[in-house]
Amino acid sequence: MSTARRPRVLVARAVFAEVLARLRGYFEVEANEADEVWPQPELIRRLQGCAGCFITGSERIDATLLDACPELRAACNMAVGYNNVDLAACTARGVLVSNTPDVLTETTADFGFALMMATARRIAEGERFLRAGRWTKWSYDMLAGSDVHGATLGILGMGRIGQAIARRGALGFRMPVIYHNRSRLDAALERQLGARYVGKDELLRGSDHLVLVLPYSAESHHAIGAAELALMKPSATLTNIARGGIVDDAALATALRERRIAAAGLDVFENEPQLHPALLELPNVVLLPHIGSATEATRRRMVGIAVDNLIAALTGGTPPTPVNPQVLPLRP
Ligand code: DGY
Repeated sequence: MSTARRPRVLVARAVFAEVLARLRGYFEVEANEADEVWPQPELIRRLQGCAGCFITGSERIDATLLDACPELRAACNMAVGYNNVDLAACTARGVLVSNTPDVLTETTADFGFALMMATARRIAEGERFLRAGRWTKWSYDMLAGSDVHGATLGILGMGRIGQAIARRGALGFRMPVIYHNRSRLDAALERQLGARYVGKDELLRGSDHLVLVLPYSAESHHAIGAAELALMKPSATLTNIARGGIVDDAALATALRERRIAAAGLDVFENEPQLHPALLELPNVVLLPHIGSATEATRRRMVGIAVDNLIAALTGGTPPTPVNPQVLPLRP
């Protein structure tokens, strides 16, 4: 492709160096090697004249931005979730949105299971206790948590990652698995996963360890609030690897402080990277900085798919994982 005619793209966050080199084979690339999280006006300024962008969950693509960047034709998100993008606004303007499904399923399920186990067995709390020099003697009930094997695993949201967590629980840890989802899985898949469909209240009441794996949307906002937490067992744990905003963090902090549930493991937060201050004061919550898919191999695969989408979208190819394929082929 000749340099003069090459489209311009913005890579809105730092990425592996070879990825920029690959993109430079097709496009004029503006990168963000300093890895700043640009406020919206700065993102809009940087997007002027760009036909496409590589974004992460930190960048918000909304109607205001789209109207201010009329040349934009593709927004390729390095995440499976795309609640940072106003999909309807993009589709209405013929802007392709893509995400990175599948490549992170098993990695994120490993992480969700690990976080649930760390929460149940008080792993982080134990390490803080030891590092603080408080381990002076062994005692019979020191840091006693709850069993994972054989306990009832509850899953809210039974997409690819939820199913991968169900498999780990049922096949690896002999856990009875119950789940709730917008749509029920077919009977053969339920049998294969060892999972039983229940209503949401039954899920809340019956789970020993409840894991949230549903997408964020207006409907799932505060799907777990004070009323839902009140239905859970006092011995139960709650793990959120989905999105901040699905849990009402203030209500959760209150439930944890009053021991209305035993413990929580959180990888995502309302207003992240800011945390609700009450969560930081509590011993019975494991707090992690949104790292569910963070293995090097998986992050490379996620970046690779986002870039495959960007290249295909702007060169007349077939993007591998479009979210709104109805906008294809893109306007010139
Ligand atoms: C995802 O892929 O949605 C992860 O949460 C990373 O943002």
